[in-house]
Amino acid sequence: MHLMSTRVKIVIFVVIVLALAGTSILFYRFFSGNNQSSSSKSQITPQQEVNALTIYDWWTSPSESTAIHDLINVFEAQYPDVAIAASPVTGGAGFNMMPVVSSLAAAGQAPDAFQMHAGYEARPYFDAGLLSQIDDIWSSQGLKQVMPDIIQQMCQFDGHFYSVPVDVHRSNVIWYNKKILDRYHIDPATLTTWNALFSAADKLRANGISTPIQMGESWTAAQVFETMVAGEGIDFYQDWINGKVTSSDDPKMIDALKTFKKYLSYTNSDSGSLTWDAAVDRVVKEQGAFDLMGDWADGEFKLVGMQYGKDYGSIVAPGTQGVYGLVVDTFQHPKGISHPTNSDRWLEVVASRAGQDAFNPAKGSISSRSDSDATKYDTYQRSAMSDFKSASHYFPSVTNGSGAPREFELNYIAIMGNFVADQNILKAADAMASTTFKTLSDYNRVWSL
Ligand code: GAL
Repeated sequence: MHLMSTRVKIVIFVVIVLALAGTSILFYRFFSGNNQSSSSKSQITPQQEVNALTIYDWWTSPSESTAIHDLINVFEAQYPDVAIAASPVTGGAGFNMMPVVSSLAAAGQAPDAFQMHAGYEARPYFDAGLLSQIDDIWSSQGLKQVMPDIIQQMCQFDGHFYSVPVDVHRSNVIWYNKKILDRYHIDPATLTTWNALFSAADKLRANGISTPIQMGESWTAAQVFETMVAGEGIDFYQDWINGKVTSSDDPKMIDALKTFKKYLSYTNSDSGSLTWDAAVDRVVKEQGAFDLMGDWADGEFKLVGMQYGKDYGSIVAPGTQGVYGLVVDTFQHPKGISHPTNSDRWLEVVASRAGQDAFNPAKGSISSRSDSDATKYDTYQRSAMSDFKSASHYFPSVTNGSGAPREFELNYIAIMGNFVADQNILKAADAMASTTFKTLSDYNRVWSL
């Protein structure tokens, strides 16, 4: 066996030292500095910066991919020389994408921007020192003048901006197949209480539609249930997201669980393995009449050529009339990224009137800007715009990342998954109270709805 020559050993040693140095620089770039004083300006000089942009999102359903492509087209029209690498990760509400982005970030390879809900979901990234402060973008683009206060607050930590919104979705909507309701003489305007909805479901079942309400995997069950919590009153919802519902026999929580148990008696038994858009598709195909889902469902109905008011329609979930469940998607400028100039350009396009009026019409959402061009939006969206303006209260969705700390949210979704399976009210109420109690120290934002 040959022994290594001294020269080979030296070369190997130098390679190892350089590799270690490179790794530490990457880690330093990610975790050094503090959020409060950092700005989005990177130390990479323009000469070093490759003209590229990497983006991650979870918009993979047919209407979602249409919407993100429409937004990318606006960017490309302004910056035709930028090479864009968009990486969509399947999995509604981002539960698959988030771990992917977190690992990339920890390895020093965060994308230049990624989809992230406003509010609590951004907190772990902020705490890890991963987000650049972007007050400069908010002021250079005049965003404070056109974004509603509640959305501004949701994009801030400690009084500074760390993200820009691209949309405002509504969570508390029940979608229906209008042909089915017409056929059985069900007037959607009468479905203002859960009991009225359940009576309509009974009627449909008596006419052979065995699962009149369609529901998807556990996060969608959690979104149904949080809507029922909101239906117990905005003050109760506010207490819930402020971590104040810590008793396992809270009468409003028990009442909401009873409503949910009854609701489940009308839903499909394969919900646990059904994606949100597959559940919508069943309503499209008349296999079910109703589906409580955020208004990203509007995009799916529309894309298959259905017309709002003629083929499908929506009602505000019982008990939540006049209040608006908020789901807000944002992008940000992660620290230490390879293409900081293009990250900033992306944020400017995301927040712009042209960008939002290209993205939201296909997505089902409304623009987060008050100066959007309403003529570009459909009948549902125009009614959502007016509901948004006149809402008495807004409640941030827990399921979709905004309302409560991340650990609570993940536990809550697991509790709802279990509840769908065992429908044990006392067990669920107890699990919910105890997870609130265990995560109390994470509640660092006081919502005043
Ligand atoms: C929400 C997100 C929406 C939509 C939906 C389904 O959390 O905010 O934009 O994508 O998930 O994936």
